[in-house]
Amino acid sequence: MTAAELLARLPIPIIQAPMLGASGVDMAVAVSEAGGMGALAAGGLAPEDIVQQSAEIRRRTTAPFSVNLLVVRPASPDSETVAAAMERLRPWRERLNLEPPPTPDSFAPDFDDQFAALVRAAPPVASFAFDLISGPQVAALQAVGTLVVGTATTVAEARAWAALGVDAICAQGGEAGGHRGEFLKPGPGSLIGTMALVSSLRAVIDLPVIAAGGIMDGRGVAAALALGADAAQMGTAFLLSDEATISAAWRGRIQTAGDDATVVTRAFTGRNARGIENAFIRDMRPVEDEAPAYPVQNRLTRELRAAAARAGESELLSLWAGQGVSLARAGAAGDLVSRWWDEARAASREVHARTHGRDDLRR
Ligand SMILES: Cc1cc2nc3c(=O)[nH]c(=O)nc-3n(C[C@H](O)[C@H](O)[C@H](O)COP(=O)(O)O)c2cc1C
Repeated sequence: MTAAELLARLPIPIIQAPMLGASGVDMAVAVSEAGGMGALAAGGLAPEDIVQQSAEIRRRTTAPFSVNLLVVRPASPDSETVAAAMERLRPWRERLNLEPPPTPDSFAPDFDDQFAALVRAAPPVASFAFDLISGPQVAALQAVGTLVVGTATTVAEARAWAALGVDAICAQGGEAGGHRGEFLKPGPGSLIGTMALVSSLRAVIDLPVIAAGGIMDGRGVAAALALGADAAQMGTAFLLSDEATISAAWRGRIQTAGDDATVVTRAFTGRNARGIENAFIRDMRPVEDEAPAYPVQNRLTRELRAAAARAGESELLSLWAGQGVSLARAGAAGDLVSRWWDEARAASREVHARTHGRDDLRR
């Protein structure tokens, strides 16, 4: 089956965004069972857990789902870099009464091991963010029947994925919550809005496009489809769902977030990501460019963030969320998907009436 066929056959063309630290097996199953397509965020998982959790999703639903990996190269920073980064975090550790941790042995799960597990798991769809994989890796997944989706934040990144023979592109607009998929030109140049990005991709790339970023309800889903996307991917919109695995402090900040609450920062992880602004982001702003690149800073702030979550200290937590955060709604993920689809159909009828209703006015 091609990606275009798979997406066209989904009863509801809504894809749950993989959200490391915020979504798990339950959300993936709920969304796929509701007629959308759920996703397992496997970027932080050990290889055996990728195989086991994919198998669990398969046991609980016969509908398609995807598994997402973050393409992270091995990091071996020098000791001065690590010491300087740890020193910048010292006041925050002190605030939480945390001892300085020993220098980590490794900074991220080994990507090649994760990839081998993904091929063994052979999910219907695999998606990747942060960087390209290789042509042979794309072919290895396709050989086991897995469709491959590459995340792009610019047309150039989408072209790079297309050249590898992937099956579809996830177009991640600047509105999106969480980490940016950007890999060619990180920074403001990769913060293209979803509307401009999807339209630009449609004009030049002959692959199915999944629109992501700022889609918070059925009107957003209808808009994505009107732009020519084959499906709408939603992340922040699921953060208040029953199945979201976020801490109480994070949930509370989403419930009270205003419509201009989010910023892009690299302070927490060494990679640009969008989240609700808090004291950590503000105070680290003057030095955030000095933070070592992902995954080093991500690993070095891990204990800090875990302790902040336990203490309910939302000013120190990474509160990943997209620009539409104030529109997030509570409910069971499956019910949200059904409701958004009803809304999308109503919105498209409304647009039809507003466009066709004008026929009489034309001279
Ligand atoms: C909390 C959170 C975690 C995320 N984790 C991942 C991830 O593990 N892998 C990934 O490819 N994208 C991740 N993203 C980005 C989403 O895939 C998607 O691009 C984004 O949620 C779409 O924008 P929206 O949040 O406005 O819906 C994450 C987003 C959020 C909000």
